[in-house]
Amino acid sequence: MNKMLTEQDFIFKNNGIATPENGSFTWKTPSNIALIKYWGKREPQLPENPSISFTLDACFTLTTLEFTKCKLNNKNVQFDIFFEGKKKGDFKPKIEKFFTLIQQYVPFITDYNFVIHSRNSFPHSSGIASSASGMAALALCVMSLEKQLNPTITDEFFNRKASFLARLGSGSASRSIEGELVVWGNHNDIEDSSDLYGIKFPSTIHDNFKNYHDTILLVDKGEKQVSSTVGHNLMHTHPFAEKRFEQAHQNLSKLKSVLQNGNVKEFITILESEALTLHAMMLTSNPYFILMKPNTLSIINKIWEFRAETNSSICFTLDAGANVHVLFPEKEKKSVNQFIVNDLLPFCQNNHYICDRVGLGAKQIK
Ligand code: DP6
Repeated sequence: MNKMLTEQDFIFKNNGIATPENGSFTWKTPSNIALIKYWGKREPQLPENPSISFTLDACFTLTTLEFTKCKLNNKNVQFDIFFEGKKKGDFKPKIEKFFTLIQQYVPFITDYNFVIHSRNSFPHSSGIASSASGMAALALCVMSLEKQLNPTITDEFFNRKASFLARLGSGSASRSIEGELVVWGNHNDIEDSSDLYGIKFPSTIHDNFKNYHDTILLVDKGEKQVSSTVGHNLMHTHPFAEKRFEQAHQNLSKLKSVLQNGNVKEFITILESEALTLHAMMLTSNPYFILMKPNTLSIINKIWEFRAETNSSICFTLDAGANVHVLFPEKEKKSVNQFIVNDLLPFCQNNHYICDRVGLGAKQIK
């Protein structure tokens, strides 16, 4: 059994190695889609229940962190951020907050002036959250700098601390470091699972779930009316919260068995129930809100009809928005793609969709 890491283990200890004068690191970091949803958190960015996600492949953020030693002793991290080549002042507060939160674990970051260059493979206004891949990419760049200061750290520690730091930026970012399935949050049946960071799903995955596809139907590309942060906070006073958190634990136990035994029917039931429960929590929050659109429901009904008619293993999941993630096994690629193009695209904004699949995790670009 590996050693469970505690918060203390993540505090960088000065080992006397001189900090580099300048340099840069680049990471390509994927987005992820939760199968068991994280909805509800407590300070400091800890989940109220464990979640598990497929790491994606085509949806990613590419981030370069350039660093130059600064002459002055700064209390706060100095940085500029460029998004798709343009200086982005409005991204600054979120990143500033992130740097402030991680400073106690990576104190060397105040020795530098940083320039961050970032871009996403998916359109910025696609309704696809970029905080998971974006925060994970930045955390990985900071970890590359730590690795230069302490080359003895293991790959496992590197990934766990990257996930730990990313989590402080955005909860779901903790699941964007490794592939193909990542668990974040403590669960009795999952060895080594932790609220502090994500881990690779530790059991063997049945072949039925290898190379799973996720076609993302862009139903509404506008800004969400209610942010995830607000939605999470409403779980503090939600009348059904405790039951929901319990249910997530039970669903993860069931899904763990299903991922090992290959029962696709049961997989579908768990996933769709999780997606609808997430939105049911939104519908029953105080104040209540709805992020699904009429076309979200039309797509769900079409998927159910198609499944009943063809015995396909197609299913859907949703994140905190109107877009629909259509999941299906590799062997149904042809028939499901045809169904999507013929029957589902009319419900997408400007017929837009993204073909993605399960991926292997973040990669450093040298
Ligand atoms: C519905 O990770 O975006 O996608 O921690 O406040 O940044 P913050 O929230 P975020 O919440 C994700 C919610 C979700 C479910 C999930 O990804 O598990």
